[in-house]
Amino acid sequence: MTALTSEKILVLDFGSQYAQLIARRIREQSVYALIVRHDISAERVREIAPRGLVFSGGPASVHGEDSPRCDPDLFQLPIPILGICYGMQLVCQALGGKVESGQSREYGRAECRVLQENDLLRGLPKEFQVWMSHGDQVTAIPADFVPLAGTASCPLAAVRHRTRPLYGLQFHPEVTHTPMGGQILRNFVREICGCGGSWRLEDFAEQVTAEIRERVGEDRVICGLSGGVDSSVVAALLSRAIGDRAACILVDNGLLRRGEVESVIQEFTTHFRTDLHVVRAEDRFLEALRGVVNPQEKRRIIGRVFVECFSEAAAEIPQARFLAQGTLYPDVIESGGLRDGPAATIKLHHNVGGLPEDMSFELIEPLRNLFKDEVRQLGLQLGLPEDMVWRHPFPGPGLAVRCVGEVTKERLEILRRADAIAVEEIRRAGWYRKTAQAFAVLLPVQSVGVMGDARTYEDVVAVRAVDTEDFMTADWSRLPYDLLSQIATRIINEVSGVNRVVYDISSKPPATIEWE
Ligand code: XMP
Repeated sequence: MTALTSEKILVLDFGSQYAQLIARRIREQSVYALIVRHDISAERVREIAPRGLVFSGGPASVHGEDSPRCDPDLFQLPIPILGICYGMQLVCQALGGKVESGQSREYGRAECRVLQENDLLRGLPKEFQVWMSHGDQVTAIPADFVPLAGTASCPLAAVRHRTRPLYGLQFHPEVTHTPMGGQILRNFVREICGCGGSWRLEDFAEQVTAEIRERVGEDRVICGLSGGVDSSVVAALLSRAIGDRAACILVDNGLLRRGEVESVIQEFTTHFRTDLHVVRAEDRFLEALRGVVNPQEKRRIIGRVFVECFSEAAAEIPQARFLAQGTLYPDVIESGGLRDGPAATIKLHHNVGGLPEDMSFELIEPLRNLFKDEVRQLGLQLGLPEDMVWRHPFPGPGLAVRCVGEVTKERLEILRRADAIAVEEIRRAGWYRKTAQAFAVLLPVQSVGVMGDARTYEDVVAVRAVDTEDFMTADWSRLPYDLLSQIATRIINEVSGVNRVVYDISSKPPATIEWE
């Protein structure tokens, strides 16, 4: 990648949960930001030649023996540095300031007052709201530094070096609770670092399309389609680059949501012309799942049958040299596989839907430099429908892990209808984009009800909706009572076999988002 990414900002990751958020916020200013390890050497930074460095926050204390440090030679480079929270403390301590621990723990919103005109806070009002989250704080700045802004409990909330472009912020400009944070980051990357703003997704799409075309030549690329946003965007890019030499495989496992298979077929045969292969494998999956109730066993079976179906379909595609995957930048960072990136983050992965390593394809991963929000934006630009672009994540094993107990065709149909109603009502009420994931679960429980004069003994459906940023922790969404009532009424009236609906109000942890 050339022109687009010639201006870079490096975000040094000191273990902050917000390092990726900082990079995303910088990219929102049309400047390409990359996450690198905190101890990257000054020499390597010189080679990469970024326009600026941002030191992220982090949970450690600069007084800790094993706390993450940066290469002190970074301060000698003629490159602007912005330290955020722990990053600021590190900069100040390294240059002779004083950081104190303890007593002044501060967490939450604060009013910040500008103490003197300065380039970092240019364009902000005299007072603005910030988000604080720290134990330690800088109590004395290095000799050549000046305070720029302060709050009641943190007089040194923003500082800079008198003459050199070294800055520190004790608060977090990257979170939405600092409403002017975007402007501050913009001032840093555009004005102070002098980036012109060349990172634009339209150009990215052009460039990546050209790269795919050149690399693939006359061969074919196989792409698995799941109905999710990542694989859809990859397929749309491929279709743009090489038309129907993009062979897409959609395994219809009978475990997808209502209308999902049809909408993928519609999109990738009429709108985007790809060579779409739909493997109708519902019976094969259901046969393999017959009598199975253990969730992990379900996952193993679905994973195995998926690989079989996919491999069989792939074997029938001639001249297929490449396999395209929707790997995103966070996956790449967290896998620890990048030369300058941070170490791997241990995450609990549900590895379903992965392909065996012995499939001898060369990989094409056109989204590996993008964050999820960029992928969505790119999808919209490429002309994918909003519904597809904003679709909530869906587990690889699909409805099988939402059909608690045995998975049968009949039970799946009940679940699919209940789920469609829940999602439709949530959309109608304007809540779909406000929740991270919303769905129905069919329980292996019958309960007594009355219908007319008769007693019924029918299934129970649970509705689950959660708010989360990272899916590692989640809280249940506070859906309005009227919406819940409408969902319950419609499911009970319209889905025969269900006479009771409950709303799941457990948070994660200790519960998980899915029921299995
Ligand atoms: P849990 O239930 O662990 O879910 O809180 C966290 C996120 O992961 C999704 N999930 C899966 N995704 N294969 C997947 O591809 C799976 O087996 C699987 N199980 C859970 C879940 O939907 C949520 O977004």
